[in-house]
Amino acid sequence: MFILRRGSQLPLHDHPLMHGICKVVHGKVRMRNFSLIGDPLSSLKDGTVKVTREGDRVVAYNDPAVVLSPTKGNIHEISAVDGPAAFVDILAPPYSSLIVGYGPRPCHYFLELDCEGESAQKLIKINDHPGYWTDIAPYLGP
Ligand SMILES: [Fe+2]
Repeated sequence: MFILRRGSQLPLHDHPLMHGICKVVHGKVRMRNFSLIGDPLSSLKDGTVKVTREGDRVVAYNDPAVVLSPTKGNIHEISAVDGPAAFVDILAPPYSSLIVGYGPRPCHYFLELDCEGESAQKLIKINDHPGYWTDIAPYLGP
C-alpha cells in the first residue's frame, strides 16, 4: 500500500514485464499512464524509451481498480488530488525477481523529454528521482 500526502506524487516509474492491479482505497489520485512502444525486454537496456501517452485519469476510492500489463500503461505517475490518498498495488512478477537474459527486475524512474511535434514521446531513465523519497512501515495485521 502506498500513502500519498496532500500534494505529493509517486513520480514516473515502470513495472518491467509485469502485470499489475492498482486500487485506490482512500481519496483520489491522478494517474498519468504511458505505454511502451516496441519490445519491453529490449527497452529495459535502453537509457531512453519511446512511449505513447494513454491520457490522464482521476481515480477515486469508489472506482474500479486500474490494470496495467507489460505493454499497456506500464509506466505511470500517481499524484494525490484534493488531499491525501492511498492505493494498493498487486504486481506480478515482483520487483527484484529474475528476468531471464537481463537480471533482477528493476524499478526505473523517468523524466519526460520535450518532444513537441512528435507522435511518440520520449522518457529518459534515471536511477533516483530528485525530490522523491519513500519510507517503509511494517504491516502489523490483521
Ligand atoms: Fe506503479
